[in-house]
Amino acid sequence: MAPIDPSKTPIVWILGGPGSGKGTQCEKIIAKYGFTHLSTGDLLRAEVKSGSERAKCLSAIMERGELVPNDLVLDLLKEAMLAKTDEAKGFLIDGYPREKSQGIAFEKTIAPVTVIIYFEASSETLTKRLLGRAASSGRADDNEETIKLRLKTFLDNNDQVLAQYPEKLKRINAEDSVDAIFSQVVQILDPLVK
Ligand code: AP5
Repeated sequence: MAPIDPSKTPIVWILGGPGSGKGTQCEKIIAKYGFTHLSTGDLLRAEVKSGSERAKCLSAIMERGELVPNDLVLDLLKEAMLAKTDEAKGFLIDGYPREKSQGIAFEKTIAPVTVIIYFEASSETLTKRLLGRAASSGRADDNEETIKLRLKTFLDNNDQVLAQYPEKLKRINAEDSVDAIFSQVVQILDPLVK
């Protein structure tokens, strides 16, 4: 497996609170740019489904709205990225890093990030969206109590994560409509693929 060269294959971190629209925007980015999407939440849910001993412990952590251990997330992510290195036009890393140390470990062991897109929305908006999604998502963490805990975990860590990357960070107002947000995303990503 070849190492990842970010000058040929951009690496984009997609950040934002729970329910900020990371997954929604990633779908649109994939459709337009064909980037490879890796959501740490999805990778962890797949691991939980495997039913291993480790999966039981992961599931409990996620239902408490806490962060799972860094080493485990980074291992899953690294493995998934390396498996796609040859075919990827770009990597969309959705929901990582969630702690300052995660960002540092990623750049040290995988590659430097190219750009960071941060979807910014109020806690009220995030809560409303997640409660709206709860009826159909089937996610064990989409309930009022866990949503509160997920928000707290996010608020406790987010400023420190963002502060690490003043030059690479692009903030987008995520209170807007899905299409209005995407038009701003396009302005950030178009220069990377030309
Ligand atoms: P994860 O799966 O990443 O969940 P999350 O960050 O809480 O985010 P969501 O997937 O719930 O929301 P989203 O931002 O993708 O919004 P979406 O597009 O779905 O993580 C789950 C758990 O895994 C964590 O709590 C943690 O335990 C663990 N974990 C994950 N990563 C980790 C890491 N790096 N380290 C350690 N632990 C980790 O949209 C939400 C809703 O809003 C939808 O209904 C959508 O239709 C709607 N919507 C979207 N955009 C708009 C808009 N502009 N206007 C109106 N509605 C909108």
